[in-house]
Amino acid sequence: MSEFRVAVIIPAAGQGTRFGADKLGQDLGGRPLLLRTVELFTKREEVGAIIVAAPPESFDDFRLRYGAQLGFHGVLIVAGGRTERWESVRNALAVVPAECTHIAVHDAARPGASAALLTRIFDAARVADAVIPGEPVSATLKRVTEETFQATEDDAVADAILGEAGKDAVRGRRVEATISRTRVVAIQTPQIFAAALLRRAYAQENLAGATDDAMLVEQLGEPVLVVDGEPRNMKVTTTADLAILRAILGHRSAEERPAHKRF
Ligand code: CTP
Ligand code: MG
Repeated sequence: MSEFRVAVIIPAAGQGTRFGADKLGQDLGGRPLLLRTVELFTKREEVGAIIVAAPPESFDDFRLRYGAQLGFHGVLIVAGGRTERWESVRNALAVVPAECTHIAVHDAARPGASAALLTRIFDAARVADAVIPGEPVSATLKRVTEETFQATEDDAVADAILGEAGKDAVRGRRVEATISRTRVVAIQTPQIFAAALLRRAYAQENLAGATDDAMLVEQLGEPVLVVDGEPRNMKVTTTADLAILRAILGHRSAEERPAHKRF
């Protein structure tokens, strides 16, 4: 079998704005969430290099906090992009060792990926140049207007019930269309690519607007294969997501653990 050596890029330079705190530093079963994510890859024999993109404005703090443990695993740390995820990936791409045949990109905020998912992705990458995980969407999807509208003024009943304070509550957007769920999938990471293909994707002039790496490969007109994702590989965006993920993984929060197991 031909050589298969994967470099893993972990974008970890985000601000965690929607979480409202340092989400990558949150406790997940006694370890910071970021290290949980990195450790998904440290024991994989296919993996030849791991590169973490750190927040540029708090780079020194990040090194102080995680440098020793990341260094122990041989992880490289680069400064990521201030605002855009693709800038973080691009900066990490610059230090990917030449001998790596493939490059996987995995959100630092997805510590729940299973070993089975990584195996599925890696196996598929041996036969396809771009592979990403996706899950069927269960929500009903509708596109709504940009503007909001207030429910009709002469709705005396609503006025009587809600009064002045209710005015904002009856504002909403109008449905423009219901989007068919057929063949619609919600995409996750890790996304894995033949190294030359991802380099070509990131060498394009226009990277703006890319919310995942596959988009830039699609922009080249190259095919992208979707394999099954999994619920436990959810992205931690809000504090509620972290609670859900802890429940899925069977981890309790630090406060809920017996004192001698908190640290
Ligand atoms: N990311 C990154 N560089 C950026 C922005 C995001 O490396 N400039 C990373 C995040 O650290 C995260 C992943 O991309 O691991 C997915 O981004 P997201 O979930 O949006 O995280 P944040 O950008 O940190 O959160 P928010 O958008 O709420 O600020
Ligand atoms: Mg973000």
